[in-house]
Amino acid sequence: MSKRRVAILISGRGSNMTALIEAAAAADYPAEIVLVISNVAGAPGLAFAGKAGIATLTIESKSFGKDREGFERKLNDTLIAHKIELVCLAGFMRLLTPWFVQQWQGKMLNIHPALLPSYKGLHTHERALADGVKIHGATVHFVVPEMDSGPIVMQGAVSVRDDDTPQTLAARVLEVEHQIYPDALRLVAGGQTRIVGNSCKTGAESSPDDTLISPTVI
Ligand code: GRF
Repeated sequence: MSKRRVAILISGRGSNMTALIEAAAAADYPAEIVLVISNVAGAPGLAFAGKAGIATLTIESKSFGKDREGFERKLNDTLIAHKIELVCLAGFMRLLTPWFVQQWQGKMLNIHPALLPSYKGLHTHERALADGVKIHGATVHFVVPEMDSGPIVMQGAVSVRDDDTPQTLAARVLEVEHQIYPDALRLVAGGQTRIVGNSCKTGAESSPDDTLISPTVI
């Protein structure tokens, strides 16, 4: 089986990156994580990737100042030099310009800690709690120029509890993120996704739990 060559872009702790690296260790996984790039020097995730034997690089966005294009050209040249076929953003805290996104259109995924299109942007758990929603979750989607938009590959949901704080809710959503990102990349790298308009169709079965109702009334 020929595996797709994947780079992961991070800025911080890299727990989603770790989930992807661990999943990709399986012989039947259709992607190989060959490179991890951080735009922040000393991002904790780099150490884990290095220990896992994966090439790591830091391309500090800070040192490019306002020269967004300069940073992105360096990033793009590096991805091409490593023959990267798919890019996964995993806690990569830098907005990408339409130019860069277009280079990787249909080949770049992001994970967002909310059920998109609700709660784009930051502080998703705080905002979900403030709104009193009963179901929250995470989304893996293809990246398009508009932030936190683009065809959705996979979503996972959690119930919101009466006593949740942003921290407890974030922890349960993060567990879901670690499940859906490797599964979504498996679909994409395995050629099982097809983009139709703003939708992503997959050959995969829908969830057997066809309904998620929260709270449960006994
Ligand atoms: C995750 O919650 C992800 O959804 C968001 O940023 C966070 C990154 O966490 N985009 P980690 O670095 O993967 O642990």
